[in-house]
Amino acid sequence: MNYPDTQPSWDIPDYLTSLVPYPPGKPIEELEREYGIRDIVKLASNENPLGPSPLAVEAVGNALTNLHRYPDGSAHDLKQAIAARYGLKPEGIVLGNGSNELIELLVRVFVRAGDAVVSSEPSFLVYRKVVQAAGGKNVIVPLADLHHDLTSIARAVTKKTRIIFLDNPNNPTGTVISPKQFETFLAGLPRDVVVVLDEAYMEFVDTPSETVQGVSILGKDQRIVVLRTFSKAYGLAGLRVGYGLMSPDLATLLERVRQPFNVNSLAQTGALAALKDAMHLQATIELTRKAKTYLTESLHGLGCTVYPSKTNFVLVDVKKDAKTVFEMMLRQGVIVRAMGAYGFPTHIRITAGLPRENERCVTALEKVLRRS
Ligand SMILES: Cc1ncc(COP(=O)(O)O)c(C=O)c1O
Repeated sequence: MNYPDTQPSWDIPDYLTSLVPYPPGKPIEELEREYGIRDIVKLASNENPLGPSPLAVEAVGNALTNLHRYPDGSAHDLKQAIAARYGLKPEGIVLGNGSNELIELLVRVFVRAGDAVVSSEPSFLVYRKVVQAAGGKNVIVPLADLHHDLTSIARAVTKKTRIIFLDNPNNPTGTVISPKQFETFLAGLPRDVVVVLDEAYMEFVDTPSETVQGVSILGKDQRIVVLRTFSKAYGLAGLRVGYGLMSPDLATLLERVRQPFNVNSLAQTGALAALKDAMHLQATIELTRKAKTYLTESLHGLGCTVYPSKTNFVLVDVKKDAKTVFEMMLRQGVIVRAMGAYGFPTHIRITAGLPRENERCVTALEKVLRRS
């Protein structure tokens, strides 16, 4: 079927036509199709190498016979369980189709064309894409020594600033914000700026006291929104469940604009079961810790710089063009992430995997570095 030559004259603003879609990690299936390779190791999207919690798998299986029903639009049980976990009221919890959706909802509520949103460079790329899509102005503050530069971020705030996005720990550097630093930062901010602490990787932080935990400030400061996800430590990236913790007043605003059934029934069921699976979470954290130690030592041995990370991934300076290294690793069936899009042209990001996956990754990188 061919569309006629005459084009409709859609009025699309430049900020949409210039928007570059988010570059996701390369899917395993795509690599299989392109190169005909089997037994692929994917360490590109900070997923859980242990897989989903067995309790979640069982619960989702049991829920399949109810697929003809709409989900519980209020996600009552999951909200109750999250509320109990943090000692919060369910009224201050908003669920999303991944924490990505919470980012969208926040921007939809607070950002009009011309409004400003501050985030760091590099940090999670989705913030700036969502802001651009809404016609907002991205104010980007470079990291200082791989950490969020809170002093410069505070200076970048103007009357137009609606939201500040801080991924803590930061993706892709794996660094955290200290409680003291954050307290000083918050004290200097205007009353009406929303401060989002995106804690997608918080479960992996070994010493919680070394970083600000958004939950400890909720209830004292209306400006704070905490984002959490089931995609990382809980191993449910494919189900798409994330949540925001905030004041009930703010939650009401987000609830107004979200779709009525934004978190599907299997996602609610799986997340609820995963939340109860403390053993799986603990095993994930242990495995990640060991994997990071192995990757760090092995990659240092190859002459790379590996930055200390509080997350389930490491940022590695391979001191060569990262895109080329990434391509050459792909041909050996190992998918990592080249960090050019994040402003690090000689760096790759590697997710902590199973021991045999980490070994495959180190061997592949060793071959690449020896050859180039
Ligand atoms: C900092 C950060 N926030 C949020 C997300 C997205 O999480 P979700 O799968 O819940 O949308 C990611 C995923 O990579 C991330 O790195």
